[in-house]
Amino acid sequence: MARNCAVILAGGEGTRMHSQKPKVMAEILFRPMIDRVLGAVNKAGIYDICVVTGYKAEILEAHLEGRAATVRQAQRLGTGHAVMQAADYIREGGFDNVLILNGDAPFIDAFTITDALKYHTNNRFVQTVISAKIDDPYGYGRIIRNKSYNFVAIVEEASADAETKRINEINSGAMWFQADTLLRLLGQIRNDNSKGEYYLTDTVSIAVKENLPVGAFTAENANAVLGANTRVQLNELNELLRMKTIRRHMEAGVSIPCTDGVLIDDDAEIGADTVILPGTILKADCRIGENCVIGPNTVLYKTTVGDNCVLNQVQAEEATVKNDANLGPFVHLRPGTVIGDSVHCGNFVEVKNSVIGEHTSVSHLTYVGDSDVGSGVNFGCGVVTVNFNGKSKNRCVIGDDAFIGCNTNLIAPVKVGDRAYTAAGSTITEDVPADALAIARQRQQNKERWVVRKKPYRPKKY
Ligand code: UD1
Ligand code: CA
Repeated sequence: MARNCAVILAGGEGTRMHSQKPKVMAEILFRPMIDRVLGAVNKAGIYDICVVTGYKAEILEAHLEGRAATVRQAQRLGTGHAVMQAADYIREGGFDNVLILNGDAPFIDAFTITDALKYHTNNRFVQTVISAKIDDPYGYGRIIRNKSYNFVAIVEEASADAETKRINEINSGAMWFQADTLLRLLGQIRNDNSKGEYYLTDTVSIAVKENLPVGAFTAENANAVLGANTRVQLNELNELLRMKTIRRHMEAGVSIPCTDGVLIDDDAEIGADTVILPGTILKADCRIGENCVIGPNTVLYKTTVGDNCVLNQVQAEEATVKNDANLGPFVHLRPGTVIGDSVHCGNFVEVKNSVIGEHTSVSHLTYVGDSDVGSGVNFGCGVVTVNFNGKSKNRCVIGDDAFIGCNTNLIAPVKVGDRAYTAAGSTITEDVPADALAIARQRQQNKERWVVRKKPYRPKKY
């Protein structure tokens, strides 16, 4: 088996992004472009990866920690110069083939990479450039073929004459090289062009001059070559992927009557007959079951939702919702929350790191934090689990079928037994036994005629 590695070019400043971060950290649908490129490379079975960093290198190095080797390019002298920085990595690794990728072309995919490799090895090419035919080739290097349609050179936009500029087959920036030949060709690149840069693309004409066989592999997926140099292009790529993902879910049985403000991360799973309403954002690792209504204005992050649930104006992070739950409007589920079957959480309810048993109802203005709540429990309006004493967090335990009166404060750690009641307005500091009623509030006194005697008010002016 041949040993292959990938070198990803990510040193550029991305001046037109006007960012304090390296360009390749810009996100397409919640994922940095570099992560999308790395994902495609891994999916193609390549794990030996060297990323060439430059502008804000430390940010990228920290981000890539453990997922790729990095080398720094101290000065940005062109794509050829960038690859030269990885020469030791390639030489010392003893690789057969090297895949070069641009870190700012996030739609490169594993099929294109592996199909191009087959084309490269079957034809025994020393270099195989992944090309694409696109409507607007402006800005890209053009693929030059001779009369016999053989690939002979790449000409950059800045060096292209009018006729060359009309060519719409372009260099994606992704290419396979035979490792030894790459190392040798790198040494022959000159910077004698209008930009004074070492162009990696010059390797083609150098190889052709030496009568070495080179090829251009035209990608079927023309989007695989798209890159983002500006925020406007970033938005265009986002929109492409956003609509592609939405269409995929629609085709699998998800209803999205209006796609406005709907952003679904590409790894989300959504069951058939679920309806996604406007303003719904599903970030990283969300699984939604069948026959749910999600949205409007619902943001879920690493959250799992079962079947037949309604989530109306819900924000949830790292939470699990089982089946038949009815949540919202205005519910916040924070990490570590498990909402059981048929639970209802209503207006302005926050649940954090708590388990809520099935058929429990938490209807309004309640905070449940660090608690284990049984099934069939009813929370009145305005209940607070007082889980933090300024130093440490403590848990509340509430048994099955308990009834927590309005405005109860449960001072953790405290247990309320099965079927127990707490009177409205109680501050519960001691455990409540099963079947008991706890009243923890001052008994009411009425002072007759107190107002008449004291006259505590200012005289009214109207
Ligand atoms: C490059 C190609 C062009 C191709 C296009 C595809 C060259 C000379 N041109 O042009 O043929 O059509 O990509 O998108 O290769 N980088 C470094 N160090 C540098 C310069 C660049 O790491 O010194 C990195 C950038 O961060 C970027 C990648 O290399 O990820 C491509 O560089 P960029 O300047 O964007 O090249 P293009 O002008 O787009
Ligand atoms: Ca580019």
